[in-house]
This record gives sequence, structure tokens and C-alpha cells, in this order.
Amino acid sequence: MCGIVGYIGKQQAYPILIKGLQRLEYRGYDSAGIALIHDGKLNVYKAKGKVADLVQFASQKDISGNIGIAHTRWATHGEPNLVNAHPHYSQSEELAIIHNGIIENYALLKEGLIKEGYTFHSETDTEVLVQLIEYVKKSNGVDLTSAVQLALNQVIGAYAICVIEKSFPDVIVAARKGSPLVVGIGIDEFFLASDATPIVEYTDQVVYVGDEEIVTLQRGKSIEIKTIANVQKTPEIKKLEMTISQLEKGGYPHFMIKEIFEQPKTLSDSMRGRVSIDEKSIKLSGFIDNKEKFLNAKRIIITACGTSWHAGLIGKYAFEEFARIPVEVEYSSEFRYRNPVINEQDLVIPISQSGETADTLAAVELAKSKGAFIFGICNVVGASIPRMTHSGCYTHAGPEIGVASTKAFTAQVTVLLMLALLIGKEKGTITNAFYEKCVEELANIPNKIKRILEQNETISQFAKTFTYAQNFIYLGRGYNFPVALEGALKLKEISYIHAEGYPAAEMKHGPIALISQEMPVVVIATKAGMYEKVVSNIQEIKARKGKIISIVTEGDVVVKNLSDYSISIPDTEECFVPLLAAIPLQLMAYHIAVVKGCNVDQPRNLAKSVTVE
Ligand code: M6R
Repeated sequence: MCGIVGYIGKQQAYPILIKGLQRLEYRGYDSAGIALIHDGKLNVYKAKGKVADLVQFASQKDISGNIGIAHTRWATHGEPNLVNAHPHYSQSEELAIIHNGIIENYALLKEGLIKEGYTFHSETDTEVLVQLIEYVKKSNGVDLTSAVQLALNQVIGAYAICVIEKSFPDVIVAARKGSPLVVGIGIDEFFLASDATPIVEYTDQVVYVGDEEIVTLQRGKSIEIKTIANVQKTPEIKKLEMTISQLEKGGYPHFMIKEIFEQPKTLSDSMRGRVSIDEKSIKLSGFIDNKEKFLNAKRIIITACGTSWHAGLIGKYAFEEFARIPVEVEYSSEFRYRNPVINEQDLVIPISQSGETADTLAAVELAKSKGAFIFGICNVVGASIPRMTHSGCYTHAGPEIGVASTKAFTAQVTVLLMLALLIGKEKGTITNAFYEKCVEELANIPNKIKRILEQNETISQFAKTFTYAQNFIYLGRGYNFPVALEGALKLKEISYIHAEGYPAAEMKHGPIALISQEMPVVVIATKAGMYEKVVSNIQEIKARKGKIISIVTEGDVVVKNLSDYSISIPDTEECFVPLLAAIPLQLMAYHIAVVKGCNVDQPRNLAKSVTVE
């Protein structure tokens, strides 16, 4: 995780870097730091905690300079304190580095450097890297770019790094392997960042740095890229499709609630140019270009983490129901290490909002090496996962800043459903009439979400009742089981209330023992999908005095009467219920967390983009 930013140009670097860090704070917020070169000095300032703490600390310091690098940290090696905060100096304090990733062989490298007389102040792998660069630079008498290149040849691990040198205030050298890095190209200035959000304000011309590439940004010169193996590369400049308003709260108190409310739009964006009401059809170019791979697939393997895994589970229900293809949904972290059976007839679908999740990235590498066809579903354009897949489909949910995933989830589900319906239609495993009905209904979903959002105030009121709770259970069946898992994850990650999702009928195999009048049980009990069976499950909870919060279909009175609190959602096809049922669960988690005074956008210990395994 961690966020990195760099600037070299004619402007003062400090405000650009701080604003950049604020945009990247979702990636980690254990500590923050900045390094600036000015007047022959390389000044490094750090603070434990958030970027705001750094700003306060730096307010008494010399923050001049038109070259600098900055970092916001999610701790991996070494606790989150001032000494371990980045940037790190080299021994002579000639170099400063920021790093996102993990150097796996740091201990061995450190041992070698200690023998050469280097001393270390922090527990970080990053300090080892900057010392190594300095050592290589001095012993070979080379410039910074060559030193970085030679040093990285000795390194095992993942990194995005930026390095500056006191005596050369006209150069930033950066490199990446496994962790993201984007260069923004302005007029006589360059920007560097972990993603494009700190850059969009200044330029829409970007270069996504490739794996194992080293970038030299020199004042008055064009960007230069070469690989760690010393091969020169021609930079591929792309136009950034992002606006600043997408990165601001737009009057909402938190990004999370803004993103929840954006869902009617983000779902329309996911469908734009893909779902046609007039033609009653779905078009996905990634599908059209690789039709045979989809139609001949003997098996689909979905690999993802967290919320994206939950979306994948909904995908499994849809692919099996509509396309009649067996599906396995894998946690990327398990899949990558358990020597799974994969072959050329497998279609592997990694799902990732960020496109940078280390485990999912490794799962893709593994599946690719075994000859499977990889079709990625990703939100962040140009991220590592979509760059590594054979084909794919962007979710187009726009930047998601809140650490708790909301709009990205519903966009992922939308793409999966479109794909499943499309394969089913092409294979003839669903009827034309059903396909057309689904296309029509899919287009109605954004308006139905708007109707659910109108209940925000009601949900915020009853959410207050539940701040006492230590535990929650979420239940659903069929397509609603993954929604129950997702509802529970939302609550636990932002409110720190323990929550478990279960298939409703599994209750009686254990969790029912937990039910008492203290235990809130959220049940998704919509008309579409095993309604009567879920009603029986609700009766079982009621009999044990559990508090029932139900998600019901508009007009339902049976479940409503059995419930302590109830939220209605419009009726829809069973496969689309997750797109609606997820919304009240997101709102409920949000309001409970707000009433509890939690930091909903930046929950403790979490980061948006998990680029370490
Ligand atoms: O970027 P990804 O979709 O690959 O991220 C996967 C998970 O880290 C992510 O969904 C996480 O579980 C979220 N905090 C959930 O809200």
C-alpha cells in the first residue's frame, strides 16, 4: 500500500506534494513525510499519523524547493513511528527515497551493507534500498539512474520508488515492479504518483510506468525510460480520463456516502454503450473479441479478495445459471499458493477495484503461466491487473476513495451479470425472451436504486438503535448470500462491530446458538429468491428473540410484520436483487459507523489498495 508522490518543475513542490498525499491518503495513513531540495540542502520532514500532522509539523520549517518527493505510509516493516516513516536518507544524507512495496531480501542486503560500514536507523526494508543505491553509486562511480538500475538488479520484491539526490536538484529517478507508478507530463514539469489522482489537476498527459522500468525525469529534458535489464523504452503517453470533481466530496460529509449516492450514475456508466434498450442487447467488446474463449470455456475461475470476491460469488451464481459453465470462486491469496489445477481451457476472471491487489496480481500471473485465458474486471484504468490480462472489461465506476468499497462492488456485479447473460444468450442456454427481459430490467436498475436512496433518512434513524451491538449476523440465500457477506464486511470494516454473513439455512447448523435479544440479525428476504424458505429462517430467529432487520420487496407485509425494522426495495429479477439489496446495507453500515464516531473513509488498520500480500 502506501502512497507516493513526486514533483520536479518550475512551481513550488510542497503544495503539490501535500495535495497529492491527501489524495493518496486512502492508501495508508500511519505516517507521512516529504523531502525537498532547496539551496543545496536536502530537507526531510516526517510526522506520525496523517498528512494533516505532517502539514502542522512542516509549518515551522523551510518548505521551499521545486523538486521533492512525498509519502503516506501503511506500515509493513517496522511499526508506524517517526523513525520508520519515509522518506529515508542514505548514509551520507545525499539521497532520499520513498517506497511502496516490500523488499523481500532486505535482511540479506542489510547484512552485506553493515559489513561495508553502513548503519541503519529504522527497521524498514526501504532504508536498506536507499543505502544499497548509495553504495552501488559510490563503488561504481555512476549516476543516480545507473545506480538505481544496478541496485534493483539485486533486489527481490515489489516496489515503486522515487529517489532524489542533494547534489543533483534537477533529477528524480523512479522505478516500479509490482507496485503502481504514474508519471504526469506537464510543460517543463513532471509529476509522479501511485495513481493519477494527484496529477489530474495539472495535466491529462500521463505515462503508466511498466513493470521493471526505471524513469528519469530531468528538468529541461523529455522523460527517459529504460528497463532494469538496460533496454531503452519509448514512453507511451496516454490521455487521462478523470475529472477533479470526481475526487472531491461534492458537499457530502464523507466519500463513502457520496459514493453510495453515486450508484445510480455509476451503474449507468457501467452499462453505457454496452446495454441497448432499443436493440434489446448487451455488447461487451472484450467478449466480442474473444467469443470462442468464452463459448468453449470448460470452467471459469474467478479470483479476487474482499468485496471483489463477494462480487465474484454473485458472478458464480449467474454464470452457472445462465451460461451453464461450472465456476470456482477463489480467494487470490489461497489460489496463488495452493498449486491449483489450471489448464488452457479455463477462463480466469480476476476482479479488482484497484487493479493493484498483490494477491490477485500473483493469481493472474500463475493462471497465465498455465495457459489460461485471463479476462479482467477492474475499475482503475491502466492499473497493473488490466495490463496483465489478455482482455477485460472496465467497470467505469469512477475513482472510489472511501476505503470501504460500495460503488465499485455494484459496478463489478453489473459487469458480471452482463457477461453471464451474454454468454447464456450466445450459447443458447437462456431463451431470447428471458435475455431481452433482463436487458430491459438491467436498464431500470439505476432508477430503482434512486428509490432506495430516498430511504436514507429512515435508515440513519434506526441505525442509531444499533450502536450498542457488539455483534451482527447477516443472512441471505441464493444470490443474496454474497450480499449478506458483503453487508457484514461493510459493517465490520468501518464500525468495528463484529459481523458474520451466513447462508440463511446454515443458521441452524451452529450460529443459531448466538441468537438472543441482544443480537441484531439482518435478513435479506426479498420475493425473488427462496422467499418462503427465508421466512421460515426468520421465524426461527424470532422464536429465539433475535432483533430482525429485514430487506424486503416493496409491498411485502409478512416479513415486515415479523421484523423490528424493515427496508423495502423495488421488485426485480432474482439475479439483479444484489444490486438493490446491497444499497440499504451500505447505508446502514455507514450510519452506524458515523454515530459511533468512526472514521468511515479511513478505517483503522486498513488501506484502499492492498499491494502487499
Ligand atoms: O482493489 P481490490 O478490489 O482488489 O481490493 C480487494 C479488497 O482489498 C477490497 O475489496 C476490501 O475488502 C475493501 N476494503 C472492502 O470494502
